[in-house]
Amino acid sequence: MSGMNGVSSMSSVSSPWTPDSWRRHPAQQMPEYADAAALAAAEAQLAKYPPLVFAGEARTLKKSLAEVAEGRAFVLQGGDCAESFAEFHAFNIRDTFRVLLQMAVVLTYGAGLPIVKLGRMAGQFAKPRSAPVETRGDVTLPSYRGDNVNGLEFTAAARAPDPQRQVQAYFQSAATMNLLRAFAQGGYADLHQVNRWTADFIAASAQGDRYRELADHIGRTLKFMEACGLNGDNTPQIRETAFYTSHEALLLGYEQALTRRDSLTGDWYDCSAHLLWIGERTRQPDGAHIEFCRGIGNPVGVKVGPKTKPGDVLRLCDLLNPANEAGRLMLIARMGADTVGDALPALVRAVQAEGRKVVWSCDPMHGNTITSSTGYKTRPFERVLAEVRGFFAVHRAEGTHAGGVHFEMTGQNVTECTGGAEGIDDEALAACYLTHCDPRLNGSQSLELAFLIAEMLKAERA
Ligand code: PEP
Ligand code: CO
Repeated sequence: MSGMNGVSSMSSVSSPWTPDSWRRHPAQQMPEYADAAALAAAEAQLAKYPPLVFAGEARTLKKSLAEVAEGRAFVLQGGDCAESFAEFHAFNIRDTFRVLLQMAVVLTYGAGLPIVKLGRMAGQFAKPRSAPVETRGDVTLPSYRGDNVNGLEFTAAARAPDPQRQVQAYFQSAATMNLLRAFAQGGYADLHQVNRWTADFIAASAQGDRYRELADHIGRTLKFMEACGLNGDNTPQIRETAFYTSHEALLLGYEQALTRRDSLTGDWYDCSAHLLWIGERTRQPDGAHIEFCRGIGNPVGVKVGPKTKPGDVLRLCDLLNPANEAGRLMLIARMGADTVGDALPALVRAVQAEGRKVVWSCDPMHGNTITSSTGYKTRPFERVLAEVRGFFAVHRAEGTHAGGVHFEMTGQNVTECTGGAEGIDDEALAACYLTHCDPRLNGSQSLELAFLIAEMLKAERA
């Protein structure tokens, strides 16, 4: 365990919560800053800056997620594994946003369900790592932990955690959020533009043909609705969309600094994003990450991996959603394609038997990471699809709602995951491998995934 040295007393979770009560709990995966005063100064600086989201928006998202928990909607959560300072560009934000819009349209049209759109964007910087240090040759340095902590470059200077990186990440998040809001509300997301969201490389792919056909249907439907008197001027749902942000609540000093008391309700919200999730490596019941998240009013996610026991999941429900409020808690299963069928049913059954209200989401990425024969960290697309299929099959068998998917993607034409309609093989990975952390689906693989999910949702509803 790193960080939080010198903690001698640990309060129990029944002690009163405050934005800093997590500091009395053991915290995994926290960077070790050499200069405590510089860290405190950066956190104090952030605590004075404006919140990035408004508490009322987090409550609206919670209401939408309650619809998911009740089986009447589906949540699509996607974006970078790790946002980076180097890839910060309007085109990258636009490309990811529009692929998510395309996926949402495929799902809405295909399944006839409202789709809750949630980006892993505008704050997804901090990364948990399997080892605290990385060795190359005879040099050992701290592991890269995300651009808000240290640099990816393998030098002692870059790998030293720098608190001012949190401030830079805040400003990048604010600018990203600003553009996302503009796109969502300013006309870019207007359904009349559905044909223009396609990037050139997707247009040329098999998914492009499929998407064009669907977009033509939507175009005709909009004309029909217009003839009936429903248009973008009198029906804002045609012109605008609701788009929410999320990231892993890992770097708790940053999250605390952005946690504010809502002036309307008096409740505390983490205003760094609409939804925060806790990673597989930091969800210890007595740990700092659970302690922090239990006190914020936002909807909260937790990753659950293949070793999770039914009792663990019920404990998470007790700790994070004691009032059993629908829309508050999202359980994100990341089991691996081979394991989901064995590991998930007992968890779903336990939650169901105890009447706990949760959103079940499927992360088909983090249980399916392998090293290619050419030395790249990759994910075979067919494994990703297999895990999604397995997830839906479990919910069908249990009579519960497969509520959503959570995945790592980009709108760019990267070659990070093998397979898909373009048949990226181990050799082709080198062509455009850009990720700072885990391999992401590219735009056409993402669209292919959406078409598959639409089929499964249709089957679930039939
Ligand atoms: C992630 O979502 O990037 C991640 C690290 O996931 P997990 O906590 O499931 O390993
Ligand atoms: Co990842």
